Amino acid sequence: MTTINKNYLKLPGSYLFSNIAKKVSAYQEAHPQDQIVRLGIGDVTQPLAPAVIDALHKAVDEMARGETFHGYAPDLGYEFLRTAIAKNDYADRGCAISADEIFVSDGAKSDSGNIQEIFGVDNKVAVCDPVYPVYVDTNVMAGRTGEYNRDRENFDGVIYMPCLEENGFLPELPKETPDLIYLCFPNNPSGAAITKERLQEWVDYANKTGAVIIYDAAYEAYITEEGIPHSIYECDGARTCAIEIRSFSKNAGFTGVRLGFTVVPKDLVREGVRLHDLWARRHGTKFNGAPYIVQKAGEAVYSPEGKAQLKEQVAYYMRNAHYIYNGLKDAGYSVSGGVNAPYIWLKTPRGMTSWEFFDHLLEKAHVVGTPGSGFGAAGEGYFRLTAFGSYENTQEAIRRIQAL
Ligand SMILES: Cc1ncc(COP(=O)(O)O)c(C=O)c1O
Repeated sequence: MTTINKNYLKLPGSYLFSNIAKKVSAYQEAHPQDQIVRLGIGDVTQPLAPAVIDALHKAVDEMARGETFHGYAPDLGYEFLRTAIAKNDYADRGCAISADEIFVSDGAKSDSGNIQEIFGVDNKVAVCDPVYPVYVDTNVMAGRTGEYNRDRENFDGVIYMPCLEENGFLPELPKETPDLIYLCFPNNPSGAAITKERLQEWVDYANKTGAVIIYDAAYEAYITEEGIPHSIYECDGARTCAIEIRSFSKNAGFTGVRLGFTVVPKDLVREGVRLHDLWARRHGTKFNGAPYIVQKAGEAVYSPEGKAQLKEQVAYYMRNAHYIYNGLKDAGYSVSGGVNAPYIWLKTPRGMTSWEFFDHLLEKAHVVGTPGSGFGAAGEGYFRLTAFGSYENTQEAIRRIQAL
């Protein structure tokens, strides 16, 4: 008889955002007159930039003619896109990454979830706490963790690195040595950013211990301050210890279009094997390429018009971030994030739990955010608001919170 992958049974209950959706729809049903403002899910709301739309239209027209039709994309992605990425995201920032070290994909969620496949099941995983849940859950599914521990509200066998107010929401080098280290900066959910010096410490640590860093830079476009690295490859020695994952979702609004990429440098070798070769094998076997029209849209992100339009779009969201940050500060909240990231992380008032504050905000202000505890035990007592709403809704939400 068929058996199942029992690791899946270790995963507790339903997913954070479906819990939130259930609570919000129950509230809306009971109070149909209330106008709810949603600053919960990290999904964008602005339309695609005109340069991207033009590229999509042109690519669709190409698909309509035999001479310009495109079928399966090349395994690593189209050369035109990988070259644009290598130049704009890496060479222009002084990072030595070549086009053939870039693997184009359908987004950072799949890549950050799938990358663990090329590592042994006995690898010890370290994650920040709070954390983007995909890193943990995919390692649970793969059998790289123990059981879910209901008291601690996390998994046995995982190294959790608490990111709290005391340490500026940045992880400290763990006491127990990990094999795989997941880092995400600028961070979801805390909005914290890491300086180049601090990231260099992690790179040096990984090179010393032989660990591999999986660096999720999905929010790189939101960096506004000097001294904050846009890529881990800005650090010396990162080519021998780090894989970087990027997304077009937040810098270009591709959440519904789907495009991302992963960089695996050829110098990254473990047990005598290039991880680049393993990921190429995995990619070639299990992925059949992001659509041509989407990769053309991705290329437009790097055109002069695309860059200018997207700079404006990111600035639009960051204006929201500043509005939320300052509005909450004025109202007496303890707030962080929002400077190099579209997320604002606030401490719940009067010792409320994250979910108590969620209910409070929903019932009294009709504003939806995300309970920090949904991102890990160390997120308890915190709450995330996103800057991805409209400016009007953002203002309205802050006005209501201030009036509480
Ligand atoms: C840290 C982080 N990585 C990856 C993703 C997913 O990105 P994508 O839309 O490219 O799958 C998200 C989405 O919210 C995220 O917050």
